[in-house]
Amino acid sequence: MGGFTCSRCGDLLEFTRDQHLAYAGLVSGSEQLGVWRYAKALPIDSGTPHVTLGEGGTPLVPSVFIAKSRKFKALRFKNEGQNPTGSFKDRGMTVAVTRALEAGARTLICASTGNTSASLAAYAARAGLRAVVLLPAGKVAPGKLIQAAAHGAKILKVDGDFEKALGIVREVAAADDRIYLVNSINPYRVEGQKTAAFETYEQLGRRVPDYVVLPVGNAGNISAIWKGFEELREWGITKELPVMVGVQASGAAPIVEAIAERAESVEAWAEPSTVASAIRIGNPASWKKAVRAIRKSGGTAISVEDDEIMKARDELASKEGIFLEPASAAPVAALSHLRDLIRSDDVVVCIGTGSGLKDPETVKLDPKAMPKVNDAPSLRNLLSRNI
Ligand code: F0G
Repeated sequence: MGGFTCSRCGDLLEFTRDQHLAYAGLVSGSEQLGVWRYAKALPIDSGTPHVTLGEGGTPLVPSVFIAKSRKFKALRFKNEGQNPTGSFKDRGMTVAVTRALEAGARTLICASTGNTSASLAAYAARAGLRAVVLLPAGKVAPGKLIQAAAHGAKILKVDGDFEKALGIVREVAAADDRIYLVNSINPYRVEGQKTAAFETYEQLGRRVPDYVVLPVGNAGNISAIWKGFEELREWGITKELPVMVGVQASGAAPIVEAIAERAESVEAWAEPSTVASAIRIGNPASWKKAVRAIRKSGGTAISVEDDEIMKARDELASKEGIFLEPASAAPVAALSHLRDLIRSDDVVVCIGTGSGLKDPETVKLDPKAMPKVNDAPSLRNLLSRNI
């Protein structure tokens, strides 16, 4: 079904829109917060049935503990872990799979570090289409693998990293009209994911945040969210734009390197390595759009160490009640490095891209250390010792 690249310049294709939407026009899709509330801003014919599981409409949760400890007065978490399959991928997948059905596709394919494959598997099941996912062998979090299996996707593995898998599926899909690729190089994915910007704007009481801080892997999401905010401004709905801050793990930080060196292009990293497996990507396909978003917004990209990521994940879960996977906690790990850039009363939104339930092996849990209680006196005894 095509390779989603321009035949003249080789860049990734993206949707542009000449129609201008006033706020009333933008939100007239449906009453509820969610991706299809913004149907008028999405490139799907109005008569096409939506392949939907109720994606989007995720809560924007004010931070209490982390805001206080890092001295931010208006810090919020957009908890994308509350999407149907537990990650932001569902926003793009509902639009891409709706489009696939509209275009008559039968087989949907993706490469993935895990979440895209889980999301594709669910939406393909819903649409009655075949899902094939190609994953780096031994490198995908078990929760994500289980999702893909449960939803009935055909799971294939590659010896190597995500980028090798993406190279293979891109080559095959570009040459075969019956195979539809749903990685974020597919512009329909980007269109769905941009709705996180529209929602954030609405949830903040119709204003854009001063800063959006989010993890960057293949670099589709930072491009998508920036596109959403740019459209709000193009349409005259808002005059402001946020500053975009991309966060990568220090073992997989090609975009951070390019931004720091003011380079014209991003150099691929050969062997990316991080505990945050979702963003273990050394050669981001959407690097050009991501670098443009960061530079145009006056933003930056920073890297964080694995131990900082794990500490942030634990803090979010144990002090804020928000359980995210390691990659999704990277923006919180980045906050202490951003103190010089961000003023304490700036409105800061961290995108919590995926649920912690997907990556259970990264949580320390020792069943042997759990006290056994088989009657009320032993429970009373334990409680009196203030455990
Ligand atoms: N956070 C999570 C939880 C992810 O799964 C991903 C990407 C990202 C952040 C980064 O987003 O790639 O648009 O820059 N996961 C992809 C996947 C690569 O296959 O699930 P990005």
